[in-house]
Amino acid sequence: MTAPPDPLRRLAPVVRLAPAKVNLALAVLGVRRDGYHELHSVMAPTGMTDRLSLAVLPTGGLDTLHVAGFDAGPVADNLVLRAIAAARRAARAAGCRPDLLPPLAARLEKRIPVAAGLAGGSSDAAAALDAALEAWGVELDAGTRRAVAAELGSDVPFFLVGGPALAEGRGERLTPLPWLRDAAGWPDRPGLLLVTPAVALSTPDVFRAWDAGARALGGAARLASAHLADELRRGMLSSDMLLARASVLAAANDLAPAAVAVDPALVPFKRALLRLLGVPVGMSGSGPTHWALYPSLAEAEEAAGRLRAAVASGALAAPGPQPPFIAATVFTAPAPAAAPESQP
Ligand code: C5P
Repeated sequence: MTAPPDPLRRLAPVVRLAPAKVNLALAVLGVRRDGYHELHSVMAPTGMTDRLSLAVLPTGGLDTLHVAGFDAGPVADNLVLRAIAAARRAARAAGCRPDLLPPLAARLEKRIPVAAGLAGGSSDAAAALDAALEAWGVELDAGTRRAVAAELGSDVPFFLVGGPALAEGRGERLTPLPWLRDAAGWPDRPGLLLVTPAVALSTPDVFRAWDAGARALGGAARLASAHLADELRRGMLSSDMLLARASVLAAANDLAPAAVAVDPALVPFKRALLRLLGVPVGMSGSGPTHWALYPSLAEAEEAAGRLRAAVASGALAAPGPQPPFIAATVFTAPAPAAAPESQP
């Protein structure tokens, strides 16, 4: 663990793009003694990102946070400030002098819808943890980082992986998975349409609805999640193969019946999406974001355009006080460690 020797380096802001995740399959296996739920889920990061910048506050004082974009609720409750505080505690516990961990000014551009099943807040927290350590010039070993992340929230450790992963336990036990490869061995980036109706679903409410009875309506996701993780692990999937499994994956979210129990208006909304898109439509996390897969970003953008037109014409009625948030993006994957052999 080291402190930066160069004071000028500390004045440059540290910038991170914090990606949204999508659950391609999400199985809820049961309730644990601690009240959390045992999960089995294949998660993948996407190209939809928040932007976080952190700079050392030369004047001292407390850490600050300014949020632009989507309303993320009270700043004092924001996970970014909690992540900076947790990073400082962990750095001190590792022997770093408090005067070398000065207050930070954070600026967050929220471009990921809030309470939407995309884990934007968790991603911001992981980015803040990493960026704070960089701003102070502190190194913490990977195990400590993961432990700090897990304390911040079940989804936070996923964003330290930097790519797709199988999440187990309450979400903190992660096995990185290889991503899709095209025929030549390069990462495949299928298009992804994300549609978020303007109803914030509280994750605890959705899990409570699962406890209260929606569990009886799920159960199919376990096999789909295990199968997808296995195929990815063995490097067996291309974009085409993933799209061929879209209808199985779209049905593989055990929290979907629970989300519907919390907000029944999601039923006609999903039905309208299915009718307008004509492709399988899944739900991410505890919702209410819905996803659809496309062979390319261009095709996802075309579908997004069609949905926006349907909203404008009244053909797509969405729950909530505002129109749904509609975005086309891609899954993102780390670059392969080595160039595929078949490439020149
Ligand atoms: O871990 P995190 O604080 O993000 O979780 C938010 C809430 O979601 C928990 O309080 C719990 O109600 C629920 N949850 C759960 N099981 C999980 C993850 C989250 O019951 N595996």
